[in-house]
Amino acid sequence: MQSLYERVGGQTQLAKLANRFYDVMMRDQVASTVLNMHPKDLTRSRKRLEHYLCEWFGGPSLYGKQYVNAEWIKSRHKHLAIGLEERNQWMHCMTTAMRELDIEPSLQQELTNKFFELSGFIRNNV
Ligand code: HEM
Repeated sequence: MQSLYERVGGQTQLAKLANRFYDVMMRDQVASTVLNMHPKDLTRSRKRLEHYLCEWFGGPSLYGKQYVNAEWIKSRHKHLAIGLEERNQWMHCMTTAMRELDIEPSLQQELTNKFFELSGFIRNNV
């Protein structure tokens, strides 16, 4: 049974996904609230998301096991006010990035469900 990491195309594809996610965030006006929550220089954010996704999907442990723990990733967001609007903007960037990278539709749906669940868990505001 292949891991999600292998099915999605490994680190090369997850690096593309993380980068496209932030490209969409910078480009699409609908994501401006969530863009403004980020540091001006997104280089570090791009890498961290790439590494998080690699580990979460069953690939190499690039930042240590704590990255795959949902409580840990939620705690990394606790200084931010993340309500429904911010969560929807985040999901917009991720679903658009997956579509633009032509990820196979059923895999896109599976990933969307995972992202939806985790982003709902991270949400900490109205
Ligand atoms: C629910 C909507 C979300 C919002 C609005 C959001 C927003 C942010 C922001 C603004 C940062 C940068 C914090 C900083 O540098 O001060 C960040 C960091 C990060 N986010 Fe999110 N995020 C969300 C959901 C997620 C999800 C679902 C994931 C994973 C799939 C994720 C993964 C990460 C990672 C790995 C970091 C870097 C953590 C670190 O090492 O500090 N985020 N997020």
